[in-house]
Amino acid sequence: MSKTKFESELNAIEEKVWDQVLAEELSDIHEVDRSATLIWFAFFPIALHRYLVGSDNLEGDLLGFAIKGNYRLADQIDSSHRFMYGHRYWPHLKRSIIARANAFDDDDLDLKKEVDLVVQSTAAAANTDQALVRGIALVGLMTLNQTGLKEFAKTNGESAKAEGVLKASPESVITARSKDKKQGLLGFLRTIDKEFSVQWDESDPRARFDIIFDEEIASGAARDQSRDWRKRDERCIEGVIPVECRSAACGTCWVGVIGGAEKLSDVERLERKQMKVFGYKQDDIAKPVVRLACQARAQGSVSIVLPPWNGVFGKKIYGVEEVRLKPATSAAAKLRETIDAMGSEN
Ligand code: FES
Repeated sequence: MSKTKFESELNAIEEKVWDQVLAEELSDIHEVDRSATLIWFAFFPIALHRYLVGSDNLEGDLLGFAIKGNYRLADQIDSSHRFMYGHRYWPHLKRSIIARANAFDDDDLDLKKEVDLVVQSTAAAANTDQALVRGIALVGLMTLNQTGLKEFAKTNGESAKAEGVLKASPESVITARSKDKKQGLLGFLRTIDKEFSVQWDESDPRARFDIIFDEEIASGAARDQSRDWRKRDERCIEGVIPVECRSAACGTCWVGVIGGAEKLSDVERLERKQMKVFGYKQDDIAKPVVRLACQARAQGSVSIVLPPWNGVFGKKIYGVEEVRLKPATSAAAKLRETIDAMGSEN
């Protein structure tokens, strides 16, 4: 099937235009999905997608970028945005986008106008506020852009039932994200031994672990041995967050901070530099929504999202120079080496 005019026009839009439209739309996205939208766009970067689609040695490039986990958006068309509040409107949104893609006959495509059209028709069909579907509309258009209309239309387009915190109203979700774990009756006496929590999937009330004041998120995750994390994701060797080096050297532990970014330590020089090397886009601010879990320290309860993959591609894709760091020496890295060695022997 050849591309529709809509797809061709969408594919021709440069990354900087996507970035610009995303930045302009942000204030019109309901607060409940503002960070979530930025996180989704960081998890599925168009520049990496374009590079890999154009590659004549995909296997070699994936190896070169040390990509682990599932980076392919085409495999998760209906689920990559499950962490967004607007995910519940996905069936309506998907139908709106497909209808618009098939009916499109303009001379050229104005991304901002297309976002508005899709937002209007989705909000009307779902009988909801336009601000609640604006973030997921951007996500839907980018998903079509990366997967093509044929793949996009093939999946059943259903959304998962809202569970956990996400069952509540948008305002209640925002309030829940801002709350810290109760410190008990004498909590006001606590100082450095204050305990907080990290929620790593808002649709599951059990998906949380405790963390001590100023502890790195990855360290808190490692202490939670309540499940076999490797069964959930084979990149996990000591907790729900995949880690290898624990020293900002490997890029394995990136997370999106959907709530409470302001309660994490400021990004320090090493983390900032390495995020660029890895290719993980983030705003140049002290408390961005994409962080390295082995560097970001919690000073309150936070809610995070775990990306389904990790890699190191900043140099090739964005021209960022590599930074020489000491080799990883942590127990986690050694364990990883042992596991990898066992795998190659089998
Ligand atoms: S575990 Fe390697 S960068 Fe965080």
